[in-house]
Amino acid sequence: MKNIVLIGFMGTGKTSTGRLLASRLGRPFIDTDKRIETDNGISIPDMFTLYGEAYFRKKEKDTIAKVARYTNVVIATGGGAVLAEENVNCLKINGLVITLTASVEVILERTGRRSNRPLLNCDRREQQVIQLLAARDALYKNAADFIIDTTVRSPQQVTEEIIVYLRRGGHLRGRS
Ligand code: S3P
Repeated sequence: MKNIVLIGFMGTGKTSTGRLLASRLGRPFIDTDKRIETDNGISIPDMFTLYGEAYFRKKEKDTIAKVARYTNVVIATGGGAVLAEENVNCLKINGLVITLTASVEVILERTGRRSNRPLLNCDRREQQVIQLLAARDALYKNAADFIIDTTVRSPQQVTEEIIVYLRRGGHLRGRS
C-alpha cells in the first residue's frame, strides 16, 4: 500500500494527525523532523542556531529521500519540506500527499504554545506567518492529492476525513 504523506504549514496538525492516522491504520508513523533530530543527534532549533537553515534543509532532503522509499507508512513532514521540488517528487512516488491547512489566527495560536520553531522565534510572528504562507501556499496546493482545512477540526476529525478519502479512493483494504 502507498504511504500517506502529510504536508502543510507549521501548526496545521501534521504530527498529531499523523500519529492518530497511523494508529488507526495499524501502520508505522514517521515524523521527518524527529528522524532528522535522531539521525543527527541534535535538535532542530540547535541545528538552525549552530549551522543555519540551509544546513537543516540539506539534512531534511536526505531524510525525506530515505523515508520516501518505505511503503505502507504514515509520514508527517516539516512545514518547509515543499520548498524543494525534489522532496515532493520523491514523496509522491510511493505516497499519497495530503495537505493540511489552517487560518493564520489558528496557526499563531497553535504554534504559540511552544517555542521550538526557529522560523517563528521572532517579534513579528503574525507578519512572518503571513509572509511564509504567501511564499508556500501554491506549493502546498500543487503537491496535494487531497486538501483538508483543519482550522475548526480536531486531529481526530481530520483523521476520520482522511480515512473516508482513502476508503473512497480504494486505498484501504478491509478494516480501519
Ligand atoms: C519548518 C517547520 C518545522 C521544522 C522546521 C522548519 C518550516 O516543522 O521542520 O522548524 O520551514 O516550516 P513543523 O511544520 O512540524 O513545525
